[in-house]
Amino acid sequence: MVLSPADKGNVKAAWNVVGAHGPDYGAEALERMFLSFPPTKTYFPHFDLSHGSAQVKAHGKKVADALGNAVAHVDDLATALSALSDLHAHKLRVDPVNFKLLSHCLLVTLASHHPAEFTPAVHASLDKFFAAVSTVLTSKYR
Ligand code: HEM
Repeated sequence: MVLSPADKGNVKAAWNVVGAHGPDYGAEALERMFLSFPPTKTYFPHFDLSHGSAQVKAHGKKVADALGNAVAHVDDLATALSALSDLHAHKLRVDPVNFKLLSHCLLVTLASHHPAEFTPAVHASLDKFFAAVSTVLTSKYR
């Protein structure tokens, strides 16, 4: 997945718009994923997944922080996300199909909060970015 300079600019601009909302949006995307694609819940048997759960909130912050780190290191995602790739592929053994589901929910969350900024071009760039992040996080899954 190759992001053009324009894609990278769109992703950075979108992340600036997200700003301090990152943790909330991360939690919302997770909640959307669990509700819309219930099999994803099986990876979180130890979590309270009810609406407003403190665990989902805390995890939403972790996901948002990781994505912020990826935005900051968009030219070297493999290095920036190496430890997370080990975690998801080797330790958690998250089936790669699930990354498309979370990516979709991240897009829906961003679109619903920032409809004016979520132009078709920004949508396309963010979709490529989440696909690139997902590729790294699943690269060690065998
Ligand atoms: C954009 C894609 C994703 C990102 C950026 C991401 C990020 C993270 C981060 C930052 C952590 C915490 C690591 C730590 O505590 O050191 C984590 C843990 C975890 N992730 Fe992901 N993740 C993604 C996709 C997924 C998907 C698709 C699933 C499964 C449906 C998943 C399942 C898990 C689980 C089960 C944990 C451990 C939770 C815990 O016990 O605290 N992740 N992820």
